Amino acid sequence: MAASDIILGIESSCDDTSAAVARGTVLLSNVIANQSVHEAYGGVVPELASRAHQQHIIPVVNRALEAAQVRPHEVSAVAFTRGPGLIGSLLVGVSFAKGLALATGAPMVEVNHLQGHVMAHFIDEPNALTPHPKFPFLCLLVSGGHTQLLLVAKPLAHEIIGQTIDDAAGEAFDKCAKVMELPYPGGPVVDKLAAQGNAQRFSFAKPQMAGLDYSFSGLKTSFLYFLRDQVAQNPAFVAENKADLCASLQRTIIEILLHKLEKAVAQTGVKEVAIAGGVSANAGLRSAVSALGKRHGWSTYLPPLRYTTDNAAMIAVAGYFKYLSGETAGLDVAPLARM
Ligand code: KG4
Ligand code: ZN
Repeated sequence: MAASDIILGIESSCDDTSAAVARGTVLLSNVIANQSVHEAYGGVVPELASRAHQQHIIPVVNRALEAAQVRPHEVSAVAFTRGPGLIGSLLVGVSFAKGLALATGAPMVEVNHLQGHVMAHFIDEPNALTPHPKFPFLCLLVSGGHTQLLLVAKPLAHEIIGQTIDDAAGEAFDKCAKVMELPYPGGPVVDKLAAQGNAQRFSFAKPQMAGLDYSFSGLKTSFLYFLRDQVAQNPAFVAENKADLCASLQRTIIEILLHKLEKAVAQTGVKEVAIAGGVSANAGLRSAVSALGKRHGWSTYLPPLRYTTDNAAMIAVAGYFKYLSGETAGLDVAPLARM
């Protein structure tokens, strides 16, 4: 095993079909097919997601191999997302990985999707120096399904030191956006509208959670009731105040996230701080983490935007580290909705 090993990564845990090729940690290609079929439903419809993965998987893998100028039999290992995620979606990626492994003789390597998001910080670009967090580091992992504070001791080894007891941060963005009748997924739309709004205009409930755990269900309810009361008096309230509502909501979510991140640094003494996952694309969160880090003397790491939301580049690189450790998966491996 060497840095010249070629890893094909496959990601299909939710509604993005993605394939990537990496030589060691150096990314050669990363192809993502999004599924627009869910927009009309205001959320991901699992059955439709599986079907779209089934349609996309072969063209997406072919495009990734072609862009990397790699032939299937040159692949040293096939890394795939085993979970957590939607079982029907995961099945497509896992089954494809098995087929390719059988046809080429390459071993399979299973990757935990959440570790993939963390390992997005170790994707190298050809001919470019990318700064990586130094171990041990803290990672605030914020996605549509998860909100966790991780203490990462080494590649693929982390301890969960805090997590949400109910909704994830991305869910809070998406559910509140839905109340405002914004398109799905709401997070990026709120982010954009927030840039033009007054973040101090409205206040919403913040949780009083002990320790390093999070809760977002109270904020969601407070937002819903506030809008219901306002709309009862003025039916055009949401339309007239959209930007201020988004900015105030986003500020509240960021304050909740960063309060515990600050606490985690104080508790662990670890000042290498990274963020990861779909919500780490949020412009407000990115600038708030950088500013907080500057104030406290932390080294902060923001993943490039293209590696924040679901992608196979992070699966290929996480898979490379797993492959180095010699951990391969058997042909009887099955996906896991929860891990
Ligand atoms: O990591 P990801 O692509 O999928 C999961 O593993 O869940 O994260 C998707 C989540 C969605 O909730 C989406 O609304 C949120 O990330 N998201 C954002 C932004 N871009 C994506 N939330 C806030 N601001 C953004 N710019
Ligand atoms: Zn994800």
